[in-house]
Amino acid sequence: MNTFWNEDTMTAPSATDTTGFDVEKVRADFPALHQEVYGKPLVYLDSAASTQKPQIVIDTLAEFYGRYYSNVHRGVHHLSQVATELYEDARRTVRSFLNARHEEEIVFVRGTTEAINLVAQTFGRAEIGPGDEVIVSEMEHHANIVPWQMICQEKGARLRVIPMDEHGDLQLEHFEEMITPCTKIIAVTHVSNALGTVNPVREIIRIAHAHGVPVLVDGAQSAQHLPIDVQELDCDFFTLSGHKIYGPTGIGVLYGRKELLQRMPPYQGGGDMILSVTFEKTVYNEIPYKFEAGTPNIAGAIGLAAALKYYRGFDIDAIVAYEKHLLKYATERLEEIDALRIIGTAREKASAVSFTLCAVHPHDIGTILDQHGIAVRAGHHCAQPVMQKFGIPATARASFSFYNTRQDVDRLVDGINQVLEVFT
Ligand code: ALA
Repeated sequence: MNTFWNEDTMTAPSATDTTGFDVEKVRADFPALHQEVYGKPLVYLDSAASTQKPQIVIDTLAEFYGRYYSNVHRGVHHLSQVATELYEDARRTVRSFLNARHEEEIVFVRGTTEAINLVAQTFGRAEIGPGDEVIVSEMEHHANIVPWQMICQEKGARLRVIPMDEHGDLQLEHFEEMITPCTKIIAVTHVSNALGTVNPVREIIRIAHAHGVPVLVDGAQSAQHLPIDVQELDCDFFTLSGHKIYGPTGIGVLYGRKELLQRMPPYQGGGDMILSVTFEKTVYNEIPYKFEAGTPNIAGAIGLAAALKYYRGFDIDAIVAYEKHLLKYATERLEEIDALRIIGTAREKASAVSFTLCAVHPHDIGTILDQHGIAVRAGHHCAQPVMQKFGIPATARASFSFYNTRQDVDRLVDGINQVLEVFT
């Protein structure tokens, strides 16, 4: 395939920004950024909800559907073999991106939500019993609360919660005491989608493992902002959503430690997850296929691989430094606005600022900013316990990617001042 990833087309940062990062070169790769909304140039500050797509991902999807499309693992014909090779190559790309030890530790799913449900419904169903405990944190997205609540209710187990302080930092002083012989799994987010907090997951894993408890890390908001190495993290499960890391929607990844995945019962039944079926007995396939029933999102996986190769073409340390710089600049500029309260002031944050604006409802903030061409998310961000903790119904959230600029931040600040003018 011609437009599939090619070393010659890689974009690399060059020295034009204060951090040495050539953001304009990045922006040139993202066609959606170059449009007007209500007659104003678009400022896209909703990447925590979903990132825009680079041209290489769009081209890869079009080329796959246009020339190489077929089902996988099923056909002896040429196109099926090409599609199977591309799909399995995508798995190898994800393995390398996460630095997993084995290819079969990579399960393609719809996204982080499905990945966590899979673990809750398989690992959870097999390992959690009456009186057992599951630990999550107070800043989890609903996707890392509800699946555990469901299995706990079903099994008569208990959900326990690591508290956070008023800054949005986890209070880990008593975390180790929360772990008992009844603790079956700990599931924590790497980066909070509502607050931007970066959690010390390496430390949480170290403590959990000292007690023999496995840890699931929700990487939906971290894989696109921090270097991820599942071996170095030593996590047992790691999840990511393709659409949040420049890939297509409807594709995500569950990384699971091989021994655990092998032990876990299947998630859904159907084609591809079996070796043999009779009405009396079904023999399940090997991992990862045991967890991939039915025709998978073939194009999604191939598009995700294109996105990961694109992203990996950059110096990740340069991206981290640039995004840090942008977050610092945004925080400083927003702090200049007296009526604005930043929700989430943790020690370490990544690429998102949640805020409220005196008595203005966050939906009104979002709607007025939109009229100025500025896209932010407003609401509870699927993290209602976080809102309850801060005593608010919702926030407006500006979230950043390596394609955002200081000018985007300035436009946001101008937009917020316009919102205040409407309401005063
Ligand atoms: N979980 C996504 C967000 O935080 C949709 O916006």
